[in-house]
Amino acid sequence: MSESGAQAPPARDYAGPGALIPQEPAWRALPEREFSASFLALREHIYDWIEDYYDRDHLTRAGDWILVVAPDAPEHLVIAALLHDMERKVPGGPVLDMATVPWDDPTYNDAHTGRSAVIVPEWLREHGASEELAAAVAQPIREHEFGGSPEGDLMQAADSISFLETNDALVAGWATRGMCSVGKAREKLLWMGDRVRHPGGRKIALNYQRRSLESFENLVERRSEDDRR
Ligand SMILES: [Fe+2]
Ligand SMILES: [Fe+2]
Repeated sequence: MSESGAQAPPARDYAGPGALIPQEPAWRALPEREFSASFLALREHIYDWIEDYYDRDHLTRAGDWILVVAPDAPEHLVIAALLHDMERKVPGGPVLDMATVPWDDPTYNDAHTGRSAVIVPEWLREHGASEELAAAVAQPIREHEFGGSPEGDLMQAADSISFLETNDALVAGWATRGMCSVGKAREKLLWMGDRVRHPGGRKIALNYQRRSLESFENLVERRSEDDRR
């Protein structure tokens, strides 16, 4: 009960079976707490930068989910979540041969996370962020695939939940377009859920993993039926 006597609504259990509701948490929602004016202004610039990124929804949701898993997450961590993959927007980055190389390949993933951990702070400095903020995002971005520190584990959870929520059709498309086998594409969804180290984040990720696997199988099946016609 709050001081005014109003009962706060119960927090949604996103790990529960009834939690997979589209549009929840609300897109770009912020929890009720103080955010600095500089963070709020920077966040708008970030949404502009990611607007034409091929996987914009995944980045947007990573920023949303990190605040569900950790409503008190520091501002630099929300910014890191929103931008963690942005090296892929800058030509010249590492390329994973998805047909043959495992999803958890350390050489590819270290190159990917390490490159984002340089490009994102540079972009932040160019857009008026403090040196302190620009420096603070590097390590969590570096850890977003494998986790490691508490901040890295939160990043990994947000990355995984968001990916599993938004990218079932993208992954099914890799298989139906022949970029990798159906089994290899399925392994991506398995890895994204199974790898999560943060305990609360893991429960949510596994919930979304179940749904994304179901959707993946339906999309692949529908495509092979079309091919048989
Ligand atoms: Fe990534
Ligand atoms: Fe990601």
